[in-house]
Amino acid sequence: MNLEALLFNVLICVALVPVVAALGRVKVSTRTAVGAIVTLWLGFAIIIVSTQFFLAKPPVNGEAKVTNRPIHLPTGNYVGSAACQSCHPHNHATWYDSYHRTMTQVASAKSVLGNFNNVRLFGKDLDVRLFKEGEQFLAEINLSNPRFTSTYPVVMTTGSHNRQAYWLAAGETPNDLMILPYMFLKDEQKWIPRHSAYINAMCLQERPELAVLRADRGRWAQVCIKCHATHGRPLAGGDELDNLARGGGATQAVEFGISCEACHGPGAEHVRVNRNPIRRYQQRLGAEPDLTIVNPARLPHDRSSEVCGQCHSVIEHRTTEAQKQWVYNGYSYRPGDDLALDPIRFIMRGRLELMPPDRPKDIPNPAETGSFWSDGMIRASGREYNGLIESPCFQRGKLSCLSCHEMHQARGDSRKRHEWADDQLKFGMDGNRACVQCHEGFRNADQLAKHTHHGADSAGSNCYNCHMPFTTYGILKAIRSHQIDSPSVKASQETGRPNACNQCHLDKTLAWTADRLERWYKIPAPKLSKDEQEVAGSVLWALRGDAGQRALMAWSYGWEDGLKAAGNHWQAPYLAQLLEDRYDAVRFIAHRSLRRLPGFHDFEHDFNAPPDVRAAAHQRALQVWSKSQQAGKLPFTRPVLIDTKGRVLETEFQRLWKHRDDRPMAINE
Ligand code: HEC
Ligand code: HEC
Ligand code: HEC
Ligand code: HEC
Ligand code: HEC
Ligand code: HEC
Ligand code: HEC
Ligand code: HEC
Repeated sequence: MNLEALLFNVLICVALVPVVAALGRVKVSTRTAVGAIVTLWLGFAIIIVSTQFFLAKPPVNGEAKVTNRPIHLPTGNYVGSAACQSCHPHNHATWYDSYHRTMTQVASAKSVLGNFNNVRLFGKDLDVRLFKEGEQFLAEINLSNPRFTSTYPVVMTTGSHNRQAYWLAAGETPNDLMILPYMFLKDEQKWIPRHSAYINAMCLQERPELAVLRADRGRWAQVCIKCHATHGRPLAGGDELDNLARGGGATQAVEFGISCEACHGPGAEHVRVNRNPIRRYQQRLGAEPDLTIVNPARLPHDRSSEVCGQCHSVIEHRTTEAQKQWVYNGYSYRPGDDLALDPIRFIMRGRLELMPPDRPKDIPNPAETGSFWSDGMIRASGREYNGLIESPCFQRGKLSCLSCHEMHQARGDSRKRHEWADDQLKFGMDGNRACVQCHEGFRNADQLAKHTHHGADSAGSNCYNCHMPFTTYGILKAIRSHQIDSPSVKASQETGRPNACNQCHLDKTLAWTADRLERWYKIPAPKLSKDEQEVAGSVLWALRGDAGQRALMAWSYGWEDGLKAAGNHWQAPYLAQLLEDRYDAVRFIAHRSLRRLPGFHDFEHDFNAPPDVRAAAHQRALQVWSKSQQAGKLPFTRPVLIDTKGRVLETEFQRLWKHRDDRPMAINE
């Protein structure tokens, strides 16, 4: 489009030369001038036509030849992102730099983040060697059984922001991908076993790597494709008989990664009509919507959020028949449709009674799946739509994902592109502006302080910290809940979910919070047990909680705001204990948080070392801690189970740890 405009201007100028010349004193015969004008305008017409041809030229796609992995190919009414670039360079560029684009990629030197320089990884039950041969990334897997030693090419990658998973061509059919049982963490520049990266009982198994290989074989085409690609189809275009005859059809997506048409709908018609320059200029000049394409920003708030909800939610298939439809044809939902009427997909809600009677018959009780807290609040990351639709601001107001996020960085935004791409928030929406855009009464600093009972500049006056606290879990960290809710001790008691006050005031009891909530907000204090009155809330969750709660507390003990409010001098014994947790993910987070405490910046430890090494690290951490606190007379309080001399109250501590909730659990992030 820019090229076209430039050509247009150049040609006008050139075409005007003879006219100007004729008007001026330079002698040019009228015939020459007319001839020049006609030639130039003819040239102009030819260029316009050929640019259109050039713009519309289908992108070169060598995918049809690929046989060892799923392929990406624009088909049907889809045209692919390359077809949008010429007319929408800014939207294309901002999308290009987003993590949506790089969610699924063909493995290449550009996309692979992990270290493949002849790296050897020794797991519990199998060894892996990662290496490169020319352009190819390879994994040699030795399943302790020499018969199985095999080398597999890495063909695809998943993720690019926090961590990356790798898919190996296992040979049988293009969709028969095997997952590499290791993931690469970007910040830490480190490989960890895949089973360690999740809160999942898989890590408790005897042979976890093998279990991952088995459980995840073929899963890209069956599961990940739903949310990690644009219009994916596990067995594209075929029908059942046909596919059976060929031993399985080919897995296809319009595009790997989440591209334009995932959010704007198929674009063929839009591209076709806008090839007409007159229509195009009319559209550009007018403020009218272009009805041939969907712009989520023009949809009502609920319809717009559903565009995101197609992936950022807990999804089930309605019936086996519906699932079959999906397998061959992909989802029939398109942006702008009513997601609740999707004939194939069903969005799980957090409680059975919230779900309509047409819900799938065999749906599990959400409160019993690890994805939800027992009151129905979503607990797993990446499922923000589930939180949004249970929020009062959505149900009684017009809150949508786009109230806070933007999918294309606005022009004129001074942030660096990668700063924006991290969470894709609109400018200023990482603070109270996100809420006061509607709750205007809190804009004023006095009114804010009156509401929060903290200084206007305190972290305790940030709306998010009390109403969207870090109680969601995923990607080895705590993430802000996307269900807007208020601190409640009663909810903490009933669900085990940390409330915002105790998650920041890590050294205070539930009774302390209940008392303040009663005095400040007239919320009646519930009846509390002895422990809830005497022991800090965070300590109860860290020692007695389930793996998910322990992970949240391990994270909170390294959270800057929490350390400011509660001091950073007493958490080490807890993190040291969690270095011995049964769940790999909890141990990983505990070690990362520990290193944020004074004296521990260079505390080296392998969270997956054998149990005796973990026990030694626990003791080593306690020694570092007692040394670091001897000099200063630090204030310890009884609720954190440390006496005034800095000695841990062992009996109490061990009593709680013994009673921890160790039922196997999985948070399906
Ligand atoms: C229901 C939709 C959905 C399905 C199905 C799904 N994911 Fe995801 N996944 C997401 C969303 C949404 C995020 C972003 C979460 C976030 O940033 O908190 C994500 C994030 C990730 C990340 C981290 C990405 C990064 O850049 O750090 C990885 C790795 C990942 N998923 C792997 C998988 C694999 C492997 C599968 C298939 C076994 C899968 N996911 C299935 C929706 C899904
Ligand atoms: C993850 C969803 C998503 C993807 C992927 C996406 N968009 Fe958008 N697009 C949006 C949303 C939401 C808006 C509304 C404004 C905003 O959020 O920035 C929008 C707005 C637009 C607009 C209207 C002008 C504007 O900036 O408001 C154009 C044009 C557009 N997108 C083109 C594209 C193109 C071209 C691509 C691919 C190269 C693309 N979009 C990829 C969600 C998406
Ligand atoms: C030949 C030029 C052309 C191509 C190619 C093109 N568009 Fe557009 N598009 C336009 C024009 C013209 C408009 C209307 C003016 C504007 O918003 O810039 C528009 C508007 C839009 C809008 C905003 C609609 C609204 O009502 O607010 C979106 C979203 C959009 N295009 C997405 C896409 C996507 C996605 C693709 C690729 C599949 C694409 N466009 C390809 C010319 C084009
Ligand atoms: C086709 C599925 C899909 C759609 C549609 C989609 N997303 Fe995503 N989104 C993902 C996946 C998968 C990720 C993980 C990408 C990553 O972080 O590597 C993600 C990541 C994100 C992130 C985190 C980016 C980061 O890494 O910091 C935000 C924010 C987000 N999406 C918001 C939205 C919003 C808002 C919409 C709707 C306008 C939307 N998404 C539509 C699948 C989708
Ligand atoms: C009221 C504002 C607000 C709304 C509405 C909102 N978000 Fe967010 N979102 C945020 C903030 C703030 C963050 C950064 C949180 C953090 O630092 O952990 C975030 C982070 C995210 C992330 C990245 C999480 C991570 O750290 O990996 C995703 C994905 C996301 N939002 C998706 C969505 C989707 C999808 C919707 C709509 C269903 C939505 N958000 C609605 C404010 C909002
Ligand atoms: C798009 C507008 C909008 C945004 C943005 C918004 N809200 Fe709301 N919120 C509302 C509306 C409307 C209600 C319902 C008010 C009513 O029923 O009186 C509401 C209700 C609430 C309630 C009270 C619920 C109750 O049970 O009475 C709380 C708390 C709240 N919002 C907090 C927040 C916080 C914190 C943010 C920012 C993270 C936020 N809201 C962002 C519109 C919004
Ligand atoms: C220190 C914690 C804290 C902070 C920070 C905080 N709130 Fe609240 N907020 C509460 C509590 C507690 C309630 C009472 C909930 C109840 O009655 O159940 C509440 C209630 C509300 C309500 C519903 C009742 C009312 O007073 O209108 C809204 C709306 C609200 N908050 C919005 C906000 C907004 C907007 C911000 C940021 C400008 C904010 N809150 C910051 C703790 C906080
Ligand atoms: C994100 C962190 C954060 C959250 C959430 C938070 N506070 Fe605070 N709070 C602080 C900080 C920091 C101070 C120190 C003084 C200041 O900055 O205002 C403080 C001070 C206090 C004080 C006075 C000092 C003291 O220790 O006695 C009380 C009481 C208090 N907060 C209660 C609460 C209650 C009740 C809630 C929940 C409704 C809450 N806070 C939520 C960070 C937080």
